[in-house]
Amino acid sequence: MRNTRRRLRGTVALTAAAIAAASLAGLASLAQAQGSTAEEIAKYRQMLAEGNPAELWEAAGEELWKKPAGPKNASLEQCDLGKGPGVTKGAYAELPRYFKDANKVMDLEQRLAWCRVTLQGLTQEEATKQPFSASGKPSDIERLASYLTGESRGVKMNVQLTHPEEKRVYALGQKMFFYRGGAYDFACATCHAVDGQRIRLQDLPNLLEPKGAQAAYTTWPAYRVSQGEVRTMQHRIYDCLRQQRFPEPAYGSDVITALSMFLAKNANGGTYDGPNMKR
Ligand code: HEC
Repeated sequence: MRNTRRRLRGTVALTAAAIAAASLAGLASLAQAQGSTAEEIAKYRQMLAEGNPAELWEAAGEELWKKPAGPKNASLEQCDLGKGPGVTKGAYAELPRYFKDANKVMDLEQRLAWCRVTLQGLTQEEATKQPFSASGKPSDIERLASYLTGESRGVKMNVQLTHPEEKRVYALGQKMFFYRGGAYDFACATCHAVDGQRIRLQDLPNLLEPKGAQAAYTTWPAYRVSQGEVRTMQHRIYDCLRQQRFPEPAYGSDVITALSMFLAKNANGGTYDGPNMKR
């Protein structure tokens, strides 16, 4: 496994910073010369057939889920992800959703923190420590999220806008998606609202269309070959806000949940297929 990872890392030439610095139009022709994400994806499909490293994260996450921890020495098994305490199967395909006990709409990671606080007795700060792994510092959150999303593999995305709060949060996410700002005056929509747009090697999905939203949303979290880590939807959005030169959002903030709600709803009907594998 380790050797495979090292070999693959070498194939990734681009850094996120380089992409951000690149102008959209200027690099279009270069992109054609270099091939496309489609070819890269074909390579990963081949790797997937041999096994996705994310499986290790899923297994570790299941262990963490079932292990008593925190001041209350309780496991997370009674956590209510929306389908009742202890129900993990299919729960992610219906998130984000409104939770009556918290009186707010939560995405998976906000809900996970809520359960770690209420069931295990951790403080909010402890429950959200190390949301993204760094070298030598693995993240329990990435592992738990891998396990819980894996529990919806094969389930159709079915996010509801029934509660008024769900409608409000969706509308907020939509507004954020089109909100332009930062040094480049970019919105999410600048990169993700038309078909066939590309930055260098990367095809940019049109997240307003079911097809694009489904392909994108149903494949996160993902084992990122370039990073050797599983990254969550929180991380994906955080990374795009950074490319947009927006202020760094706090982990688990309501703004990220709103954007997630917008994307998840647009992906309704798509079959969930994560944790997946990406460049
Ligand atoms: C400067 C252009 C740019 C902006 C602005 C931008 N993104 Fe992205 N986005 C990218 C790139 C590049 C990728 C990676 C595509 C790839 O790896 O194939 C990406 C990938 C994604 C993905 C995953 C797609 C997939 O199929 O895996 C999602 C979801 C996403 N962006 C959401 C957003 C949201 C939400 C915003 C606004 C907060 C946003 N992006 C703003 C460039 C941008």
